[in-house]
Amino acid sequence: MAEIGTDIDKARTLLMQGELVAIPTETVYGLAGNALNENTLLKIFSAKNRPHFDPLIVHVHSLEQANEYVENINASAIKLAIKFWPGPLTLLLPKKKIIPDLVTSGLDLVGIRYPDNSLTLALLKQLPFPLAAPSANPFGYISPTTAQHVNDQLGGKIAYILDGGPCEVGVESTIVGFDKDEPFIYRMGGLTQEEIEHEIGPVTVQLNASSNPKSPGQLASHYAPQKKLLLGNLNDLLKTHFNSEVGIISFEKSLSNIKNENQRVLSKNGNMEEAARNLFAALRELDKLEIETILAEFVPDIGLGKAINDRLKRASSR
Ligand code: TXA
Ligand code: MG
Repeated sequence: MAEIGTDIDKARTLLMQGELVAIPTETVYGLAGNALNENTLLKIFSAKNRPHFDPLIVHVHSLEQANEYVENINASAIKLAIKFWPGPLTLLLPKKKIIPDLVTSGLDLVGIRYPDNSLTLALLKQLPFPLAAPSANPFGYISPTTAQHVNDQLGGKIAYILDGGPCEVGVESTIVGFDKDEPFIYRMGGLTQEEIEHEIGPVTVQLNASSNPKSPGQLASHYAPQKKLLLGNLNDLLKTHFNSEVGIISFEKSLSNIKNENQRVLSKNGNMEEAARNLFAALRELDKLEIETILAEFVPDIGLGKAINDRLKRASSR
């Protein structure tokens, strides 16, 4: 198992040596390494069992640092960066040569993000390079929102986990890219479509679900627990699956006919931020129980609810 702590010096030393360190962000924990070092990048792919065709996001500590790695930034991207960074937004922008092709899987665009977490920002400021960091989970599994989640699955493969506590947002960043300056959302995430459109006007949502997506986080099956997950109206699902071996994920209300330990209510007050924060832990916890099937319902499809529903759909697809 990896050591868990808040020692930024230790994290810095390991990263300077080309090692991997798990880092907290406001969205989910990342599996971080020197984005400019090809050996380190290979370690990231191999620790996650991640195919090389799935590009990595580069994390920076300021707009100035982002400028060192991307170019020809269009006006809408600049607006979004100024308004929402640091925050749960990844921008796909033309990369400069210094970013290795391994980071982008050979694409001309690099995903870049300025995360909002004080420990990780303090760490980034002490490093002479940006950090490539995919979510710190095995490829295709649920993203981690606590240091312990990371340790449960990748603990044997990394030296250190920087512990920033539970992630405040709880779902991954929203990915925004541009086609001839026209904005697209490629992954729903912690920054809502509404917030983005308020800033730059209408945005096309293009969440690919094919086997060769532009953003492989959009593979139809992703963020998936090991247990079968069925989505729909809980009372209808229960008619066909009523036995002691189901787990339930509901938005605000628990079910009286199911034992409490098998139920996770995402937010008793129907608060969407709280629901997003609780989603991945709920999936992980139910995945560990002695149950056969997880039954879940959609949350209202507004704001962060869109990202939650997207993750639920992918978790149910296999
Ligand atoms: O919130 C987040 O974004 C977290 C934290 C750690 O920052 N990171 C994260 O990384 O979710 P990852 O690798 O699990 O998901 C990144 C997604 C992948 O689906 C990848 O395909 C897509 O971003 N992506 C990255 N760079 C891309 C690029 N150049 N073009 C298209 N898609 C890209
Ligand atoms: Mg991921």
